[in-house]
Amino acid sequence: MKIFKISGLALILAGFSLSAQSLKSPDGKFEMDFNLKSGVAYYNLKLNNKIVVEDSKLGLELLKDGDIQFASELESKNNPGKNLNSGFVKTDEKRDSKNETWQPVLGEKKNYINNYNELAVTLNQTANDRSIVIKFRLFNDGLGFRYEFPQQKNLNYFVIKEEDSEINFPTDMKAWWLAGDYDSEEYQTQTSNISEIPKLWPTSYDGNASQALIKNGVQMPLMLKKEGKEPLYINLSEAALINYSAANLEVDAKEFSFKTHLTPDAQGAKGYIQTPSVTPWRTIIVSPKAEEVLASKMIFNLNEPTRLKDTSWIHPTKFMGVWWEMIIGKSNWSYSTAVNVHIGETDFTKLTPNGKHAANNDKVKQYIDFAAKNGFDAILVEGWNTGWEDWFGHSKEFVFDFITPYPDFDLPMLNDYAHGKGIKIIMHHETSGSAANYERWAPKAFDLMNKYGYDAVKTGYVGNIIPRGEHHYSQWTINHYQRIVDLAAEHKIMIDSHESIRPTGLNRTYPNWIAAEAARGTEFEAFGGNNPDHQTILPFTRYMGGPMDYTPGIFQTKLDYYFPGDKRFVKTTLAKQLALYVVMYSPLQMAADLPENYERHMDAFQFIKDVALDWDDSKILFAEPGDYIHTARKAKGTDNWFVGGITDENARDYTIDFSFLDPNKKYEATVYEDGKDADYINTPQSYHIYKKIITSRTKLPMHLVRSGGYAISVKPFK
Ligand code: NOJ
Ligand code: CA
Repeated sequence: MKIFKISGLALILAGFSLSAQSLKSPDGKFEMDFNLKSGVAYYNLKLNNKIVVEDSKLGLELLKDGDIQFASELESKNNPGKNLNSGFVKTDEKRDSKNETWQPVLGEKKNYINNYNELAVTLNQTANDRSIVIKFRLFNDGLGFRYEFPQQKNLNYFVIKEEDSEINFPTDMKAWWLAGDYDSEEYQTQTSNISEIPKLWPTSYDGNASQALIKNGVQMPLMLKKEGKEPLYINLSEAALINYSAANLEVDAKEFSFKTHLTPDAQGAKGYIQTPSVTPWRTIIVSPKAEEVLASKMIFNLNEPTRLKDTSWIHPTKFMGVWWEMIIGKSNWSYSTAVNVHIGETDFTKLTPNGKHAANNDKVKQYIDFAAKNGFDAILVEGWNTGWEDWFGHSKEFVFDFITPYPDFDLPMLNDYAHGKGIKIIMHHETSGSAANYERWAPKAFDLMNKYGYDAVKTGYVGNIIPRGEHHYSQWTINHYQRIVDLAAEHKIMIDSHESIRPTGLNRTYPNWIAAEAARGTEFEAFGGNNPDHQTILPFTRYMGGPMDYTPGIFQTKLDYYFPGDKRFVKTTLAKQLALYVVMYSPLQMAADLPENYERHMDAFQFIKDVALDWDDSKILFAEPGDYIHTARKAKGTDNWFVGGITDENARDYTIDFSFLDPNKKYEATVYEDGKDADYINTPQSYHIYKKIITSRTKLPMHLVRSGGYAISVKPFK
């Protein structure tokens, strides 16, 4: 236990004024107290009368009121007296509550329940006569709060220096954390106590094409666990990140506390605000059960309902791609041997082909044929457009125009060919970080997509952001992603953004933002490796805010198959790769391996062909971050269930209790499990498939080898 920072006597001597407002969750288990102490705002959170979050300060520091015209003003015009973090009196208090059910366009369940009690306190800073509102929503699974800035005479325009929202815990806890950064989440998760973070921080990250690390900082979503007889699982994140910069957390390892740390822009400012305005929600999901953290829909509930009137064109998409062969280095995105090409001036037909360009007519047709034969919806083709010769590492503003195909990619012909077989081609727009250039070309690029019938695009932001000095998570760039999603919606185009901001539940409001990468995906198995526990952590962190394009389904895990002597391998058994389609929720799922590798294992590939992408129900059967996750999901509009389980570097046994099935039905289960001699290092392709008739009374023992897993498809037996 921490020693109280200020004794009661000291507070009385300081002449404090204390007025507490209390808020309870609908089930009465959570209680939140809001306090003003000497004009400073605090909140705390209890579950079943036990402190979860100790008194924690709220407020914002401002750089300046009004407009900023010159960078030099930023340094000179810091107005501490005008920070929005002290000198407050409470002038109003409003309460509200909601208990509603809503349907996501695509989701893990048919119905999401949004049930909370709300407290909104208006605080007036008397010295400057201006007011802010702090709004709290207490759900049965945790707390969300945000700042609201009503329009008023003395608060019209201001610039944020920092948001100082604290989350103070009474004890040390286990943490699953990523090194704080303004540009990348493509790091391996570290597991340690909060108190050990500073010691481990210097060795917690590797290199990235764009990175701006925050010393001793950690990223959100952050997963925490209070261990012991009465464990508690806590997830810290944010919801509805709109027109604001993304937050990391600063760690106070001695006090077990965290404080928001926003992403600065090119001038060092962290947010330009014009009232009326609101911040994103800060979220604290709390449960004694890890499974309930995964099942929480709080982040989505804190987002606004969709703004799109017609969502009928948004659909789940299972796809393959001309992709993995470039990631592993077997072929190239670029067409020619040239360097230093000038888009718009270079005649690509005159350049010397490098002989390894993957996005060529013949190969794309082969992928289309295979995808069509196996019931896929789409194929992604990367490297179809000019510019890849010098896309990387030059901070070049104009690399791609997103409309000019290479000479060996016949865009109209290939789209006709694909459509004739019921397949769509997924567009690829790698911006090389030049968001400015992408905004310039996106209207033309989306028109081209409409003309040829593309309805989804994978965007990418490898490298430092241009406008130079902006970050992947700064306010300008957050607004850029939003502008692209809005423009795409006007064109009825779905977006899968890579190296963008991690999702904060915005796919509720903008359901055409169907998925994002924004974490260390399968590609890193070829760039340095993902730990065997990686996928048992991601659902507790990155996936809390929305679907990820993780690109699972690698069957040929050892890369010496292509390159003799190559030591790289995907750290998984084949059966575990199947399980990922159930464990890691996304309505956009790739079968990432090459057709030839699936051809050799068509019996196992059957699971990927069958698995659903959109669900009426989801049940987290058993989960522990960093160790294992077992999930069962019921496919939309059917009686079919899919079950998946994965483990970390340890072998584990588990018994599946099928009591979630309809008790009046018989089902046929097809089980895909690790083979008896399966091992993720030596014999990853050893698997065993069998069928079995089951009912809701069936209990099925499963053995998972180290970094192994299983997948089961369950269909009513006729
Ligand atoms: C990184 C993306 O994550 C990957 O999927 C893509 O293939 C490359 N950038 C090239 O755009
Ligand atoms: Ca990436």
